[in-house]
Amino acid sequence: MEGQRASQVIAPGWGANSSIQLARLRSPHYFTLRYKNGTEQELADFSSGSATNLIGIPNQRVEAVYSNPEMWRPFVNYGVFHPEKEKLASRLLEAVGFDDGGLVYRASTGTQASTTAIKLAWLAQFERGESRKLILSPRGSYFGHDPATLAAGYWCGTGDHDTGESYNNSYLPDEITNVFQHLPSPVHEGTLADHLDNYMRRFAFDTDHDVAALMLEPVQFVGATTPREDYYDGVMEVARKHGILVIVDECATFGRFGDLFASRRLGLEPDIYTAGKGLSNSYEKVAAVVVSPEVVERVNEKDIPEAAKVMFGSTLDWQPRDAYVANAILDEVAENDLLQKGLENSQLLQRALEDRLKDEKVVVQSRGGWSTVSFPSDRITGEVRRSLMRNYSIYGYRSGRGINLLTPLVGTDESFEDVADAVLESYREATA
Ligand SMILES: Cc1ncc(COP(=O)(O)O)c(C=O)c1O
Repeated sequence: MEGQRASQVIAPGWGANSSIQLARLRSPHYFTLRYKNGTEQELADFSSGSATNLIGIPNQRVEAVYSNPEMWRPFVNYGVFHPEKEKLASRLLEAVGFDDGGLVYRASTGTQASTTAIKLAWLAQFERGESRKLILSPRGSYFGHDPATLAAGYWCGTGDHDTGESYNNSYLPDEITNVFQHLPSPVHEGTLADHLDNYMRRFAFDTDHDVAALMLEPVQFVGATTPREDYYDGVMEVARKHGILVIVDECATFGRFGDLFASRRLGLEPDIYTAGKGLSNSYEKVAAVVVSPEVVERVNEKDIPEAAKVMFGSTLDWQPRDAYVANAILDEVAENDLLQKGLENSQLLQRALEDRLKDEKVVVQSRGGWSTVSFPSDRITGEVRRSLMRNYSIYGYRSGRGINLLTPLVGTDESFEDVADAVLESYREATA
């Protein structure tokens, strides 16, 4: 161990940039980075690129809850009630109109939330006496990193999700991947309703192709694909007609579309929603699965083995800590009307990007609180992203030729101008 650097002993993951270290925070949008060589630099926000910074860091209201001794009580899951947890669950249910009989399952991560959602869909179909097992999702999706969610996703990293090969699931056993089938990506022509309908027509008489659920992200975060305006038109009707449950993964979109759940703004009415990332503003490791009363009713039917019903949680799930933090975030959002402000902020960012990049071969796509900037080649995209990270510490998530630039719900016009300037400068350097 001695003499080894952290970068040699910690497996590389999402944030494997070992040359920088978070040092001190000044305001929601800026912080100072301390580099290994001892120099410091004040930079624009970092974590919104990975969709976790919803209300700015640091947030005093959230940090105040850490001094509450209640938050630190040891807690095990089995059947123990805690009012703070119930409060959080009720708020999430209310946000999607499931307050009359819906349920929230807690998860530690987005991955676990996705897996729980898939299991619930299988269980709900099982209860109807139907052995529906297929889960369909558009190519370009990412739902997490365990075997089931990897197989459900289809991220090829080339920017062309329809022709590229998924490298997130290519090493998994066929027994797993066969269950997860894929529809054309949102960049492909046609609506999701058309793609689903075509799939069902092709396999209508083949019982091996019985579809349990359609699973999707409102905007593909890892796949960096923003769907066209009409992409979701009619999809709920087609799904309902075929008895297919709809799971919408809102881990990355949570809070960003002028609503806690983007589905509410996009005409989607999922049976199961997931939320993650912004739910804890990166303070705690927490995610949630929000389930409709109809699905709850089905999974509570008597002929489901008792054992199956309890296989949805971990021993240390729902430490009250998570709920205190998430509730403080939701209080901050509600009291300051941050959902609406976040939407306005993202429009400011979009306008700043469009203004700075109007004479360049760059496409700016925005929807709700979301902006994806696409560059003319893979090389340019890579260089822009590296420069944004290295020179400005703007962490935009990159896939293929797109970079997602997400803003916290707080901030000022000035910082959005800075972000747009940084993109332009980085692009000019990459094409010089
Ligand atoms: C849409 C979506 N779902 C699920 C996940 C997985 O979440 P986690 O990294 O917390 O496991 C991610 C992570 O990027 C995501 O973007």
